[in-house]
Amino acid sequence: MNVTEQKHKQYLVPGVQPYYQEPLVLVEGEGRHVTDVQGNRYLDFFGGILTVSVGHAHPAVTAAITAQAGRLLHASALYLTESTVRLAERLAALTPGTLQQSFFTTSGTEANETAIMMAQQSTGRQEVVALRHSYSGRSQVAMGLTGQAEWKLGGAGMALPIRHAHNAYCYRCPFGKTPDRCGLECAKDMEEFIRTSTSNHLAAYLAEPIQGVGGFITPPEEFFQETVPIAKKYGALFIDDEVQTGFGRTGKMFGIDHYGVTPDIMVFAKGLANGMPIGASIATPEVASSYRGPTISTFGGNPVAMEAALATLDVIATENLVENSRLMGEKLRTGLEALADRYPILGDVRGKGLMQGLEFVRHDKQPAADLASEFLERTRERGLLVGKGGLYGNVIRIAPPLTLSAHEVADGLQAMGDALGTLYQDHPEIRDVPATRIDYGARRH
Ligand SMILES: Cc1ncc(COP(=O)(O)O)c(C=O)c1O
Repeated sequence: MNVTEQKHKQYLVPGVQPYYQEPLVLVEGEGRHVTDVQGNRYLDFFGGILTVSVGHAHPAVTAAITAQAGRLLHASALYLTESTVRLAERLAALTPGTLQQSFFTTSGTEANETAIMMAQQSTGRQEVVALRHSYSGRSQVAMGLTGQAEWKLGGAGMALPIRHAHNAYCYRCPFGKTPDRCGLECAKDMEEFIRTSTSNHLAAYLAEPIQGVGGFITPPEEFFQETVPIAKKYGALFIDDEVQTGFGRTGKMFGIDHYGVTPDIMVFAKGLANGMPIGASIATPEVASSYRGPTISTFGGNPVAMEAALATLDVIATENLVENSRLMGEKLRTGLEALADRYPILGDVRGKGLMQGLEFVRHDKQPAADLASEFLERTRERGLLVGKGGLYGNVIRIAPPLTLSAHEVADGLQAMGDALGTLYQDHPEIRDVPATRIDYGARRH
C-alpha cells in the first residue's frame, strides 16, 4: 500500500471507495490519457465519470480557467458577472423548446434538488415519479430519487413523496418481452403505476435519457413519447437529467434528442465544464417564475467554472465533437458487438454514441459482478481505464472523452479483447456460457 492509499484510508471516510484492488494515484492528464504516480500511462475510457468531455487539460479550457482565475476567482451570486450571464444565454440557445432561465450550482446533486424545488413550487404539488435503476446524487432528495437501494445510504430519502416506475431495461424486461415484440409494456404501465402508487397529483417526472450509474440502460426510442404524456396528464413537469448524457455524449447534443420529447426542466453537471465543479438547472420562464426565493448558492455561477463551461462548449462546437461522438461511438459499438459475439459472458451491449455498456453474465443471465471487476483489473493491466455500474454491479461503462480518435478506439478494443481472452483462459467454467444477447431489431440501441 503506498502512502497516498494509506492516508486515504486514514483520513477519508470509508464510504469513499476508489476503483481497483490497488487504487490508482493519478498525477497528470493529457487528451485521452492519464498518468499515475509511478509513471504508467493509461488510455482513459471513463473520463472521470463522463466528466472530462473534451479531453484532459484541453489547452482552450485550461487557458480560459487560468485567465479567469487571474482576473476574478469568485464573486458570489450577490453580484453579476458577465461569465454567468453568457453561459446562461448559451444554455438557453442550445436547449430545446422554450427553456430559458438557469440556476447554477456546483454539482449534479444540487442541480436535481433545484429542479425538484422548481417543479414543486411551480405546480404547488409535491409528488415525484422517478425510474427504477436511476441515480440522481447524494443529498436526501437525490437519494430519494435514486432507484437503487445501495445508493440510498441509511435509507436516506425514503420518506419523501417519490415513487419509482418501471424503466425500460430491455435485457431484463420485467414483463418477459423482447424489444422486437414488446408493445412497450414498461411504458404503458406508467398510467396504472401513477393511479396505484401516487395520489394522481404530480409535481414532476424525472428521468435520465440513458441511465448512467444504473448501467447505461438505454430505453427504446418510444419510451419517453409514451411515458411523458401520461405523467403530464397527472400534472407532472418533465425533468430531464442530462448530467451524464448531455453535450454530445450520446452522439446528439442531448440524450433526450433521441427521444422526441421536450423537457420542462433540464439538469446538467459533469461534462459541461470538462471537470470544473458545476451544476445547472434550466427551466421555461413560466416554471422559473415560480422559483422566487430568496435563494443563493455561494459558489453557484463561479466565474472560473462558467468560463470553463463556455470554453468547453466552444470546443465541442469548433471540433465538431457531437458528430465525432456519433462516429467514434459507432466504431466502438461495432467492435464491442464483435467481442460479444466471441465472448458470450458479454450478455448485452447497449448505449448511444460514446456511452456504451457491457453487461457481464453467467448462465441464465446471472449477473457476474466478479467477472466485471476482474475485467476492470485486467484492462488496467493493459493500460486502459473503464468504469463499472449497474444495480448488480456487473456492467462495464465505457465513456471516453468526445475527442477520441479511430486509432484510440482500436487500442481500447484491443485491450478489452485481450482482457476477455485471459478471463476465458483462467475461468474454464465460463467457456460454455451460452449467448443471451437479445435482438433489438429496429430498436437497436
Ligand atoms: C444522472 C446523474 N444525475 C446526478 C448525479 C449527481 O451528480 P454529482 O455527483 O455531481 O452530485 C449523477 C452523478 O453521477 C448522475 O449520474
